Amino acid sequence: MKEKQFSRVGFILAAAGSAVGLGNIWRFPYITGEYGGGAFVLVYLATLALVGIPILMAEILLGRMAQKEPVSAYEALAPQGRKKWRFAGLTLLGAFVILTFYTVVIGWVIAYFFVAVGGLPAGPEEAKTLFINLVTQDAATQIFFHAIAVLLTGWIVFKGIKKGIERVNTVLMPALFLMLLFLFFYATSLEAFGRAVSFMFAPDFSKLTADAILVAVGQAFFSLSVGMTVILTYASFANAHTKAFPSAITIAGLDTLVALVAGLAMFAFLFEQNMPSAQSVGLAFISMPAVFYEFGGIGQLLALVFFVSLAFAGLTSAISILEPAVAHLTQRRGWSRAKATWLPLLIAYLLGLLTLLSNLAGFEWLSFGGKNLFDWADFMTAAIILPIGGLLLAIFMGYVVDRGRITAQLRHEGLSLRAIAAWFWLIRYLAPVAVVGVIAAKVMGL
Ligand code: TRP
Repeated sequence: MKEKQFSRVGFILAAAGSAVGLGNIWRFPYITGEYGGGAFVLVYLATLALVGIPILMAEILLGRMAQKEPVSAYEALAPQGRKKWRFAGLTLLGAFVILTFYTVVIGWVIAYFFVAVGGLPAGPEEAKTLFINLVTQDAATQIFFHAIAVLLTGWIVFKGIKKGIERVNTVLMPALFLMLLFLFFYATSLEAFGRAVSFMFAPDFSKLTADAILVAVGQAFFSLSVGMTVILTYASFANAHTKAFPSAITIAGLDTLVALVAGLAMFAFLFEQNMPSAQSVGLAFISMPAVFYEFGGIGQLLALVFFVSLAFAGLTSAISILEPAVAHLTQRRGWSRAKATWLPLLIAYLLGLLTLLSNLAGFEWLSFGGKNLFDWADFMTAAIILPIGGLLLAIFMGYVVDRGRITAQLRHEGLSLRAIAAWFWLIRYLAPVAVVGVIAAKVMGL
């Protein structure tokens, strides 16, 4: 059974919906804060241009050319005798690991929406206690909202490419952009906005460490959703007018715009209340609620908009992470869409439940090697599985697939021979080196 195709805008919105996620609003600002601001932003933009966008292009191209789910896509484009490359399609399992804890975080976001409705924590100490309590003590709330996040994800994916994924993205993505613009314009009216701008754009290279470069590569992969067959799968449903290069630029552009706009707004809010820029994972769930409280009545509105934005951003990514497994099981194994959606989701739900429990006091037995299950899932995906997925993809498209075939496709899409040569150079040489660097550094515990 051949599912329907995305419309041209539908594909861009769905792919941007995948890329724009918790990684942009929650993760990008806090690592920018941790790694010193402007210099990190510059490194991130360079990484994005030199490694992120070329790999994103490769993944779109693979999906577009094969028009099949991940395993069959690798198989279809591999030359005779090298069909074992189909196993690279199993990197879709990595997406699955992301899904387990990603839905847990979306659960926190929904819980925080209700916190914002009921009244924000008064001050940083209360905000911290509230979040720590939720994560380490309050199993019931977390289990409830995690289940809601999982059910919403499953429902949308079950409805299919057009009626589920495209339709939801067509509504939620524009809504997300509007809400972020509202937060941004409010932030520009603050006296501290200028400081936020210089923090994010004035580079202080003395703060730049080698580590920052690796973090930037990891963030670029995570944020663009590449390396895990998600973009490949979406691209396999793209229509014939979809071109790899302009699509990659648009998707990466929207993704970066959201990260920068969210970062500027969040730093302006923080600086206005004299809060420090260097925050960690608590930025969205501890500092922001505390800051919004200081703004009084309008603060509550800002907080509501902020958490709804996060929820929309998270949900449109979560559905994209589930789709590769569904595409695989329906196309390759002939499962019904219902079974292919709900069975894997049930497994992801149960694994997610374990990561959720591993954060709770009394569940220390779910920790090993100095990390609990939640941190392991996060570490394994961002540091290992994602870069390996990206590496396999770069090698496959750079060395394995017939170069003439890719060149013909890109020529057909209107790219010059020079641009094609530059792209090949980037994915054959630069991307693999950058990725191996990230993995080596993570494994050696930098
Ligand atoms: N890009 C999303 C974010 O920034 C997360 C995400 C969605 C993702 N799909 C992915 C990450 C696939 C890696 C692979 O939050």
